[in-house]
Amino acid sequence: MNTVNALQSRFGSENVNFYAGPGGFTAVKLANSYGEAALTLYGAHVMSYTPAGAVPVLWMSEKSMFTAGDPIRGGIPVCWPWFGPDVTGKFGGHGYARVSLWNMVSAGQTPAGETSVTLCLEDKDVDAKFAPQSFKLELSVTLGATLTVALKIYNTGTEELAYSGALHSYFNVADSAAIKVCGLEDCEYSDKVLNVEGIQSGSIVIDREIDRVYRRTSGSVNVEDPVFNRTIRIAKSGSTSTVVWNPWIEKSKKMPDFGDEEYHTMVCVEAANASAAGDDRVLAPGAMAELRQMISIA
Ligand code: BG6
Repeated sequence: MNTVNALQSRFGSENVNFYAGPGGFTAVKLANSYGEAALTLYGAHVMSYTPAGAVPVLWMSEKSMFTAGDPIRGGIPVCWPWFGPDVTGKFGGHGYARVSLWNMVSAGQTPAGETSVTLCLEDKDVDAKFAPQSFKLELSVTLGATLTVALKIYNTGTEELAYSGALHSYFNVADSAAIKVCGLEDCEYSDKVLNVEGIQSGSIVIDREIDRVYRRTSGSVNVEDPVFNRTIRIAKSGSTSTVVWNPWIEKSKKMPDFGDEEYHTMVCVEAANASAAGDDRVLAPGAMAELRQMISIA
């Protein structure tokens, strides 16, 4: 029996269906009266989320690579155990969780008709070149009136586990220059493009490359999209740093897995544990932490 069939017979249901996804990686589609979402086991990556009757909420690049070792451009990359460049300079950005193959743990249905799946990654599943410490990650995705993505981080070792990370969500907007990103007013930020510190004045308007880490942010962020006539609401917990990113014209051209014009239709609002905001974490042996994002539209 192949992996798709084996997973289908173990975890599949009317609401949970496995298939050979992009790049040949096994993927799983959740579908119920609230909408649809799809994940690939490569990176435990949520590739799409479409509430019933709505325009897709998550953005995926048409140029995204789905090859082992390369990150997926779009959806919700799970950045862990580091956010940003690897401090040793040996490995790529945003950690190995997003380029590792995760395992299915469970799938289920709640009495309210929500569908959820949980995937798991442990140190033994990670490419030996990364030599990770002992850990276990569990990513649960629940498709209900919101899409809830919860990353549980367990220190299964005998030493402290230090990490940074993010749920690096890419949102689908009609025209990035027309949106307003609200909820970060008066927050301090580090601007990675201009290399300055600042305080956010009013809502964020995207009219150039923006790559900012906002500090002490635990509230919701709203992406107001006047063209799609909707607001994407991004609530979170377990995170006090928020990253907002749009590569704009020049950076888009430099990224091989990002279309030159695609910056018009996306914005990233990331629930982070970013060291640039003093929000990186240390877990004692046996401890667990959870990073959670709840996404909905209004
Ligand atoms: C954002 C960072 O979170 O991710 C940006 O703030 C970075 O600096 C972007 O360019 C994309 O990173 P990557 O590794 O997926 O190309």
